[in-house]
Amino acid sequence: MENKRILVVDDDKIILDIVKDALETFNFSVVAVNNTDDAKAIFATEDFDLILCDLFMEPLNGIDFAKYLFNEYQKVPPIIIMTGYGNVESVIEAMKLGVKDYILKPFKITSLIQHIEKAIRNSEIENENLRLKEILEIYSVSEQINNSLELSEIASVFIKNLQNIIKTDLVALYLNNEFNILKCDKNYFAVRKKFEQIKHDLFEELPKKLYLKDVLKYFTDKKWRFYYTDEKLDIGIDMSYKSIGFYLLKNADKIIGVVLLLNFNESFEKIKDKFVPLKILFDEAAIAIENGILYHKNQQMFLRTLQSLAMTIDAKDSYTHYHSTNVSKYSKVIAQKLGLPDEEVKKIGFGSLLHDIGKIGIPESILNKPTSLNDEEFEIIKQHPIIGKTILNPMKEQFPDMIDMIYYHHERFDGKGYPEGIGGDEIPLNSRIVSLADAFDAMTSDRSYRRRLKFDIVVSEIQKNKGKQFHPEIVDAFFDALPEIKALMKI
Ligand SMILES: [Fe+2]
Repeated sequence: MENKRILVVDDDKIILDIVKDALETFNFSVVAVNNTDDAKAIFATEDFDLILCDLFMEPLNGIDFAKYLFNEYQKVPPIIIMTGYGNVESVIEAMKLGVKDYILKPFKITSLIQHIEKAIRNSEIENENLRLKEILEIYSVSEQINNSLELSEIASVFIKNLQNIIKTDLVALYLNNEFNILKCDKNYFAVRKKFEQIKHDLFEELPKKLYLKDVLKYFTDKKWRFYYTDEKLDIGIDMSYKSIGFYLLKNADKIIGVVLLLNFNESFEKIKDKFVPLKILFDEAAIAIENGILYHKNQQMFLRTLQSLAMTIDAKDSYTHYHSTNVSKYSKVIAQKLGLPDEEVKKIGFGSLLHDIGKIGIPESILNKPTSLNDEEFEIIKQHPIIGKTILNPMKEQFPDMIDMIYYHHERFDGKGYPEGIGGDEIPLNSRIVSLADAFDAMTSDRSYRRRLKFDIVVSEIQKNKGKQFHPEIVDAFFDALPEIKALMKI
């Protein structure tokens, strides 16, 4: 095995020399040291294909030295321990921790060479398997990232998995904004398991923003994506570290963000190969994050449009200025109490803003009538879910649930509602939620035909209508949500 580098550690000078000479005649390149302090120092800066060490040494014995390496480094070459017959058991115990083999002293050189060659071969096979596993992992993470449009989800999945794959001590994503300021969020930050306890402190010691120009000054070659150094950089990081790196997330020439990487003990020099297959993941993440940002902006724009529409509806009725906004807030809290996913809660919040959009088609004289409605007028009012569905029909491809939610928001659990008179579980879940939130806000607000009802009366009305007007499950969620609802009403 030519050019394989072996670190030999033994405090017995004679054995050290014999082993060194013997291995060199077999074309191994050997660094021999007689204590574990020197071995630690050399290992920190140089790469080896195998470590051969004695069991009894100072200041650490061979097993503790192996433990030290496993704890400090992600990539440790195979370790073979040389031991006497009487200590075999403890070395076998150490093999459970990752020591690959042992050789009994005294040994023949040919036997030593066999042990070494076998360990190096096995380690090469293991490394190859690991590389394949990592590539599969990278593809699976890329897929996960592409499955979401939510920026926060994309960013946190990317960063958590990236840290898992490269096992860097600390990874933080800084997103670039239109002013070329890079900003980090605690959800875009991951650390190695052993730092989980102090994760919060580590995050606090990182700068929350960086200027892109300050990072780019290190990228003297435009083709580079990854820059690392073992020097201390003046970018406002308070903690001490061994190695620091920046990976640029680029989509074509646009810099979407920067991934900051830190290692506390190990230089990136030793694991730089790990970053090569990761280019696919970084590229996918850059595109997904950019899409996530656009999606977020579109959603904001969409929400503002909905809010404007909701204000248009509320403006028609002089008594219900904040009705749509209130119903949206209460619906979201009830949906949360039902344990619905965040994405669903958000949709219910959006949709419920428009629940009365059909009132645009109802004459103001009826909406603002100070006395009770006659049968004919009530029939007109009952048209508003149907009108709502017609108005929103052009959006049915994108928001089928929202249109149903609005269409059925006056149905009742007992089937006595309108426009279809369906009941129980036939009514879509989101309509059941909006129905209760709508009734609650109507009762707790002044109307053209009556003053608001006392809070206690409203609550007992809702309880009385459990299983009649309202679905029992929604009434239970409403009562669970009562403290939050009161807080929203500021009572
Ligand atoms: Fe309504």
